[in-house]
Amino acid sequence: MNIVIAGHVDHGKSTIIGRLLADTGSLPEGKLDQVRALCTRTAKPFEYAFLLDALKDERAQGITIDSARVFFKTKARDYIIIDAPGHIEFLKNMITGAARAEAALLVIDAKEGIRENSRRHGYMMALLGIRKLVVLVNKMDLVGFDRQVFEAIERDYREFLGQLDVHPAGFIPVCGRDGDSIASRSSSMGWYEGPTVLDALDQFPAARATIDKPFRMPVQDVYKFTNRNDDRRIVAGTIASGTARVGDEVVFYPSGKRGVIKSFEAFNRPAPAEASAGEACGFTLGEQIYVSRGDLASLKSQPPPQVSSRFRTSLFWLGRAPLVTKKDYTLKIGALRVTMRVEEVDRVIDGSDLSVASGRSRIERHEVADCVIHCSRAIAFDTAGHVPATSRFVIVDDFEICGGGIIREALPDRQASAREKVLLRNYKWEPSFISPDRRAARLAQRATLLLITGPAESDRKAIARALESRLFDDGRNVYFLGIGNVLYGVDADIARDRENHDEHMRRLGEVANLMLDAGMILIVTAIALTRDDIDLIRTSVDPDRIETIWLGETGESDSPADLHLPAAPDEAAAVERVHAFLRDRGILFQTW
Ligand code: GTP
Ligand code: MG
Repeated sequence: MNIVIAGHVDHGKSTIIGRLLADTGSLPEGKLDQVRALCTRTAKPFEYAFLLDALKDERAQGITIDSARVFFKTKARDYIIIDAPGHIEFLKNMITGAARAEAALLVIDAKEGIRENSRRHGYMMALLGIRKLVVLVNKMDLVGFDRQVFEAIERDYREFLGQLDVHPAGFIPVCGRDGDSIASRSSSMGWYEGPTVLDALDQFPAARATIDKPFRMPVQDVYKFTNRNDDRRIVAGTIASGTARVGDEVVFYPSGKRGVIKSFEAFNRPAPAEASAGEACGFTLGEQIYVSRGDLASLKSQPPPQVSSRFRTSLFWLGRAPLVTKKDYTLKIGALRVTMRVEEVDRVIDGSDLSVASGRSRIERHEVADCVIHCSRAIAFDTAGHVPATSRFVIVDDFEICGGGIIREALPDRQASAREKVLLRNYKWEPSFISPDRRAARLAQRATLLLITGPAESDRKAIARALESRLFDDGRNVYFLGIGNVLYGVDADIARDRENHDEHMRRLGEVANLMLDAGMILIVTAIALTRDDIDLIRTSVDPDRIETIWLGETGESDSPADLHLPAAPDEAAAVERVHAFLRDRGILFQTW
């Protein structure tokens, strides 16, 4: 069972872990003596917390402990305990999935009482859906083992958690330093009749919960077999919930593409016939479909995840700079990273006293908020009440995790109706016997849609045509598609007006998708495509297969481009730039 230990700074988390390790005989032989001896030598009083540091030093040599996780076992079961020294570590551990806790110990110093982090951590647990919680009132020795002090803290903290609808399994008065009520009963607190910490942990019911939920596996990677002529691929990831078996039909979201599990692959052991929540697994499919990192695998026979680029969330913010609207951040959910913005802040809650403010447009450090997030493309997720594992996200700003939270509700976005059509199209799609990999190998190129866009005065077409010629002369399979070719043909039945704009974009996307399936590098030009336009095209075409080139000043577009060129570039130079870019991106393979 994974448990996390949290609480205000210095309230005794590390001491309690050290004690749990020592009292359950989980320490390496001689470790305790070694640390005691070291303390004597350096004239420092011995601390159980040092044990953790000593173990962490050993981690460098690859033994006993990894990151912030410590292992111990009782008669009942094995435990992994996650020491969360600060907010960020706590959040990272809880959400990135490296070590996801299902139960928590919250430590409060009896003398200092409830502090802001005692409450904030309680709030985070409520938000993350950790319902198995025991509160340890530590350092009882400092208050003379006084029952009244303990009961006052219990009363206040229970009331606080009650407002969050969290009901702890119990409160335990402990003295971590001396081991009172940790593994054995305390002679100083005869008035306490409840369980010890170990007993309380062993009493938590074991979770089958994630296994009983629908199957979800965020795709971490897609590996190629290394044998020549073997173009099978292994779809790999860690199963977040549920179970999948050989023969099950898998649907990948947000695309809705599907395939049947042909085999599970395993290293150095017989391949299993099924895999369940918590396991890292890899499987092959009966058909070659284009699956990418960050997709969410689910089973056709079970409820699908939500797909949208907009959703309502509850999140907490820990960044030094406030979380603001109109700024790009990175959202990480499962194995996916996507650009996001805060569209609207519904209300801001102070996690330390639960007071609520509305009408705010920024979220300061340590604040908690309900807000609407809008991503640069549709993603697959679940809502918190249904499948917790795939409803948690973190927000990254400037390469640092600055916040995190849960998705409460999927909201409609502008691409919703196009997406419906694409889901059905993918569902009905007849994959070719020739896999995309074989096609790419034969053509020495990765099928790609090159969108060349920019302000009206930029000379997009000239570059597009020159590029087409250059690539064609190189022997590439390339095609420049003029918008007019679609407008007066495929779009002949709909008016060329603003009202039908989205439908024009959708159809352009569908045409591009066919050409890409045929292995083509397709060049399309359009005036000043907006973020919304590109989002629409991305709904029909795999976002990983689209590259956008913006001609003109960087600040003029609301959509981030993959390559920027001047508005009126020297043609030959521009073609060279794009050519080099395509090579760097691995779109043009080396040909000899
Ligand atoms: P951070 O990791 O810095 O947040 O602290 P922590 O919560 O891990 O606290 P830690 O275990 O390092 O303990 C902080 C201090 O409190 C240490 O000096 C401990 O010796 C002391 N301490 C811990 N438990 C007890 C206790 O039961 N009684 C007394 N008197 N002191 C204790
Ligand atoms: Mg500590």
